[in-house]
Amino acid sequence: FQPKTLTGKHVLLTAGPTFEAIDPVRGITNLSSGKMGYAIARAAREAGAEVLLVSGPTALPPPYGVRRIDVLSAQQMHDVVLSHAAGQDIFVAVAAVADWYVANASDQKLKKNADGDTPELVFAQNPDILAAVASLPLHQRPYCVGFAAESENLLEYAEAKRQRKNVPLLVGNIGHDTFGKDENQLVLFDVKGHSSLPRANKLQLARQLIAEIVSRLG
Ligand code: C5P
Repeated sequence: FQPKTLTGKHVLLTAGPTFEAIDPVRGITNLSSGKMGYAIARAAREAGAEVLLVSGPTALPPPYGVRRIDVLSAQQMHDVVLSHAAGQDIFVAVAAVADWYVANASDQKLKKNADGDTPELVFAQNPDILAAVASLPLHQRPYCVGFAAESENLLEYAEAKRQRKNVPLLVGNIGHDTFGKDENQLVLFDVKGHSSLPRANKLQLARQLIAEIVSRLG
């Protein structure tokens, strides 16, 4: 049973992948089941918070008592998050946001032609949602927590990412074997250094992470 450490607090999260359209029937996405983000949303709610989950496409039901807004693209996720960010106490960016969208996406389905021509996709960069929230003026800015999924050099890359995005806490997933799994292993990076949450079920880790966030909020 979770202590009610977040009663009266507002927690905003992103979870799942984003989906960037190529045409009305095709798109580009990232590998993310949404399980880690949904587990954190559930743990925050268990701790008494009012929770808003902005979610890309996943197969998961919203956790009990959590308000969910569904989005597809990174731009939509950005717009919904930014319109709700002020007034939140905590923002946890767990979503695997696509770095690029297809700038020449087609309104109509692209057709194969007899010559075997292939479409040329033009990419443009998506906004960084976490960095945008982390750079809000102090009185509008929630306590920001980022995630990092690295395939190598986690210690170095994750701390560099924490500083670049200007967030007080960044959570590294160990390895890239977490996608779709029920278990994970986390490393927490803050201004004092790093510490590990050993391999466990994602809900257990989510509850531990909420406790870590609460202790840093003071
Ligand atoms: O730069 P990278 O994508 O590795 O950073 C990961 C962290 O930044 C995650 O917390 C992710 O949700 C967030 N992010 C974001 N908007 C982006 C890209 C990443 O909020 N466009």
